[in-house]
Amino acid sequence: MPTIPTIPRYVSLPAVLKMAHDPVHALSKFIDQYGPSYYVYVGGVVKTLITTDPVLIQHVMQRNHRNYEKSAMQTDVLAQYLGRGLLTNTGSDWLRQRRLIQPGFHRERLVALTEIMQGVIDQEMSAIVAELKASDQAVDVYPKMLNFAFRIVAKAIYSEDIDEMELRNFGDLITKIQEYVIKEIRLPFLYWYFQLSGKRALHLQLAQDTIDLQRQLIQKRRDSGQRRDDLLQMLLDSRYEDTGEPMDENQLIDEIAILFVAGYETSANALSWTLYLLAQHDEVRQKVLAELQAVVPDRPPGFDDLRQLSYLTQVINESMRLYPPAWITDRVALADDEVAGVPIPKGTVVAPFIYGVHHRETFWEEPEQFRPERFAPGTQKDLPAFAFMPFGGGPRLCIGNSFAMMEMQLVLAAFVRQVDFRLDPDQVVSARPLITLRPRHGILMYLHENKAITGIKGANSEK
Ligand code: HEM
Repeated sequence: MPTIPTIPRYVSLPAVLKMAHDPVHALSKFIDQYGPSYYVYVGGVVKTLITTDPVLIQHVMQRNHRNYEKSAMQTDVLAQYLGRGLLTNTGSDWLRQRRLIQPGFHRERLVALTEIMQGVIDQEMSAIVAELKASDQAVDVYPKMLNFAFRIVAKAIYSEDIDEMELRNFGDLITKIQEYVIKEIRLPFLYWYFQLSGKRALHLQLAQDTIDLQRQLIQKRRDSGQRRDDLLQMLLDSRYEDTGEPMDENQLIDEIAILFVAGYETSANALSWTLYLLAQHDEVRQKVLAELQAVVPDRPPGFDDLRQLSYLTQVINESMRLYPPAWITDRVALADDEVAGVPIPKGTVVAPFIYGVHHRETFWEEPEQFRPERFAPGTQKDLPAFAFMPFGGGPRLCIGNSFAMMEMQLVLAAFVRQVDFRLDPDQVVSARPLITLRPRHGILMYLHENKAITGIKGANSEK
């Protein structure tokens, strides 16, 4: 009977500290020694089945997903601060909410969101170009991409109802809460300190402040009596199949908070890593530019143009293969199970190591190389399902996957055409795997206005 090796504590314990600092590297190293799946005591305590085996991953996330639930860390711990929305919900409640919200991310809704996204992009690009004219210092593109992604999600939800001050206020609150939650998850043994020092109470209060802010924004919409083509409108209009009732306001607020949390840092990471890779591969950047010039020579792409930007899509996919923003996830077995003869006892924590799968030589030749051609049409046919899974898979597949792809295409199209960028050579860029895979010290670049390409700004006015 095949078995999955367990890394002895005397091997994994010394690696624990390293693991806390750079888990991606530590977990990848174990694959070389122990194979594609192994048990390790995470934090020295929780025995976890780390896996890069697409068959096992597909089994857990799709084929037998009913037997697996997200761990309490992904649900209950996060829910204390961020609410019980799709990402942190489980069981029948999750399914009911997913059915309700899914239509909001269908194609026809996304068409309306293109305009909103492009509006944010025009505004932010003008600010970036104005700033780079005023200074020739190297700038960190990571906060810029966070800003793009945050504003895009905010406007996709609230359109014009959220003003500049509310945006900033909300952004600050979410950032502070997220930074704290990461600490509470990664340093569980300091829980008493968080409690005694008042940090926990403080952040619970900040979480309450975000709830209050959302309540005000929703009320503003109700009072205005206006209908808008945005995600809030969709959430307000949606009705449960069984009762015909709308969501209650507390649930609505939780769902909105979760869309923010799930939807902005992930996209910002992917955008930043893509710029980083493009800055190192001029031939790829030139191909992206050539494609844009061929498809939309004199304006920004609209919804129908996006599918023609196939090379840009390949670039984004290859970037998410190398730097998957969601680099790991987990599921807990609800009952004893078996996959290809391997027993998975009840209570086992299975962690699909997304980064690890994306870097396995078995599926990706020279996996550390950036080669968008890997994603050319037709080249993926021999790849097993779940060998590429930046958005997860199965019924809990990222609900915002098309939203995110569209957003990344639009932002990159604008950035690559309007700005010439090159890496500051005096820096070491590395990944910092917190909940998402961020650049550890940001990514410094010298930016210059790309004067060679003109006539592509002001998207909305040209349509
Ligand atoms: C590049 C960008 C993104 C990446 C890489 C990404 C990745 C993921 C992954 C891997 C999951 C599944 C986690 C699991 O099954 O354990 C997920 C779930 C989710 N994502 Fe995304 N995401 C991105 C952007 C977005 C955006 C833009 C939104 C919303 C506007 C969003 C909303 C969600 C939600 C609500 C879930 C939970 C779905 C459920 O469990 O039903 N994501 N995402």
